[in-house]
Amino acid sequence: MIIIPADRLGAVQPSMILGLVQKARAVAADGHPIIDLGIDEPDFTTPDHIKAAAIAAIHDDQTRYTVVPGTPELRSAIARKFIRENSLSYSADQITVAGGAKQVIFNALMATLSKGDEVIIPAPYWSSYPDMVAVADGTPVIVDCPQSQMFLISPEQLQAAITPRTRWLMLNSPSNPTGGVYTSEQLEALARVLRDHPQVMIMSDDIYEHLMFDGRKFTYILNVAPDLVDRVLIVNGVSKVFAMTGWRLGYGAGPKALIAQMNTVQGQSSTHACSISQAASIAAIDGPTDFIAERAASFQARRDVVVTALGAVPELSVLSTEGAFYLYPNCAGLIGKRTSEGLVLSTDADVCTWLLERQRVSVVPGVAFGLSPYFKISTAASKAQLSEACGRIATAVATLEPTQ
Ligand SMILES: Cc1ncc(COP(=O)(O)O)c(C=O)c1O
Repeated sequence: MIIIPADRLGAVQPSMILGLVQKARAVAADGHPIIDLGIDEPDFTTPDHIKAAAIAAIHDDQTRYTVVPGTPELRSAIARKFIRENSLSYSADQITVAGGAKQVIFNALMATLSKGDEVIIPAPYWSSYPDMVAVADGTPVIVDCPQSQMFLISPEQLQAAITPRTRWLMLNSPSNPTGGVYTSEQLEALARVLRDHPQVMIMSDDIYEHLMFDGRKFTYILNVAPDLVDRVLIVNGVSKVFAMTGWRLGYGAGPKALIAQMNTVQGQSSTHACSISQAASIAAIDGPTDFIAERAASFQARRDVVVTALGAVPELSVLSTEGAFYLYPNCAGLIGKRTSEGLVLSTDADVCTWLLERQRVSVVPGVAFGLSPYFKISTAASKAQLSEACGRIATAVATLEPTQ
């Protein structure tokens, strides 16, 4: 029997990251342990009080269907969080809970995009964005944001990318994959452009909100442009901040009509997020937060290890970051060089394959994030592992020969 895929899948790229993960596993399975710096999840564990809340919820038989947007108790906890931490006020019907921040984004795109609708995605981007837009029949409009702009979209670029068909601007700060963070002034400048284009909604993906460095404070676009409240969907969740990636729980806050449409999509797909994860997330959101600062400080110290080590490699250029747990070194200085095995490195994908095979260090090529030649390093590893990995990269780079 021939399985005919839906037309919409034609525009979806097979996951380059998944391909690399498979390659890394194959190298490791050959008995060569690798240092894997391609991981998008914290290497910490879920705190005990959150686990205990989940176990209590099971014993309390909170094991049945909940309402589609998430339990009223969880949505109240989320509303309290927005007031306490962000000075933003949302009612229960302006909040929806889904199986991860990813599903919140997916629900929003499915609820709002029709064929030909455009979504502006600043590159480098979280690699799922363009494919999720494509699955929802939309057209990704990729805007290259160079290193000289700290990989952030400028107001001029935003203005130039907007058309009458633009439905969304994707904003991700702190960013995966660059760790870049928009300042209040930068957000204000973007808001000034957006005010002239009421057809454009803003997807504010703030999943790394709590992982900020060097004393920087996190700012929502709504903190500087409250008048855009009817056009902003905030996307957040417990995955990164509470080390709960496997629990699959994210949430969105936005205009009531949009949230209702998103709930319609969810109501006919997964119905709701796992009831136990919802109970655990109340404990997470309402619970102690002192460990978050400790974890952010740990990611900051690891960032420093990588920036110092790779900063000493003249062929690489790495910007220090202000949040999240990623770095995005430029590897233009390696392109066109010949390895000792006689291979010429033509792309960042070649560089990553070579680093994996030769040095057993797994990093992800910039092509997966829409801006080359770079590679992404996740600092979800110990300082010793990061130091070792950077040492291996430096050693390998020193063996490269020019081609002419
Ligand atoms: C920028 C960004 N948004 C959303 C997500 C999805 O988070 P979740 O695990 O809650 O679905 C990720 C996960 O890597 C991410 O990096």
